[in-house]
Amino acid sequence: MAKQKKGVRLPISQSRKFILSDSTQFVIKEAYKTARANIMFSLSQSDKKIVVVTSCSPAEGKSTNCLNLAMTMAETGSSVLLIDADLRKPIQHSLLKLDNKKGLSSILGGITGDIGKTIKKNVRDNLDVLTSGPIPPNPAELISGKRMGELLEIVGSHYDYVFIDTPPVMVVTDACLMNDFVAGIVFIIKEGSTTHVEIKEAIQKTKLMNAKILGMVKVNCDYKGKSGYSSYKYKYDYKSSNS
Ligand SMILES: Nc1ncnc2c1ncn2[C@@H]1O[C@H](COP(=O)(O)OP(=O)(O)O)[C@@H](O)[C@H]1O
Ligand SMILES: [Mg+2]
Repeated sequence: MAKQKKGVRLPISQSRKFILSDSTQFVIKEAYKTARANIMFSLSQSDKKIVVVTSCSPAEGKSTNCLNLAMTMAETGSSVLLIDADLRKPIQHSLLKLDNKKGLSSILGGITGDIGKTIKKNVRDNLDVLTSGPIPPNPAELISGKRMGELLEIVGSHYDYVFIDTPPVMVVTDACLMNDFVAGIVFIIKEGSTTHVEIKEAIQKTKLMNAKILGMVKVNCDYKGKSGYSSYKYKYDYKSSNS
């Protein structure tokens, strides 16, 4: 697959090819396992195992990689919940072919109080998913509201890990608004798309909101495999910003 340029979003059927599966190359799976180990290490001192996944701009791979990180974490046997909190452009239900009549927005908007019934169970082994629900008119208000805090407290005590897919930080502040309830943020950086200036600005923005950056995952970059592996077109790289 050719490298993607800034803002490029493939049709959903092609985007699904980036989701980890049995046919994913070994090296890519290993890179996710490295990211997983780093996230587990970063969270080892934290009592809240809740991670927000975001990026600077749209179409940088937040949703796909949030799902892949959640699936990789679930492989350890830990119970994992993935929440689609991009209430503006939700995509997890399309990636996973799930019904989205009810979801996060229904809980936050008070339309349903039954969190257990709204969460889709065992979408993959050990992985449950809370889809976005219908797109609401007031996403930032819902995300920063009291009900979101209560929801994260409940799911945080029930699941070993929670991964939250969000809109880009340079467009809206939804990711940072969850700061009080989460352990930190994982940034997705897309080679050929995210610029250094954007990364700097996004880091400044998260610092202003007192949010902790747990690390960065780089996607869409060339990588020469180790001996025994042919070269492949992208790699997943995890770097701690705290080092
Ligand atoms: N690991 C990856 N390498 C290259 N492109 C990717 C990768 N993951 C996702 N993409 C592509 O990036 C585009 C945006 O993906 P998506 O996950 O919807 O991003 P976002 O949530 O940031 O808008 C899609 O066309 C998708 O196929
Ligand atoms: Mg997305």
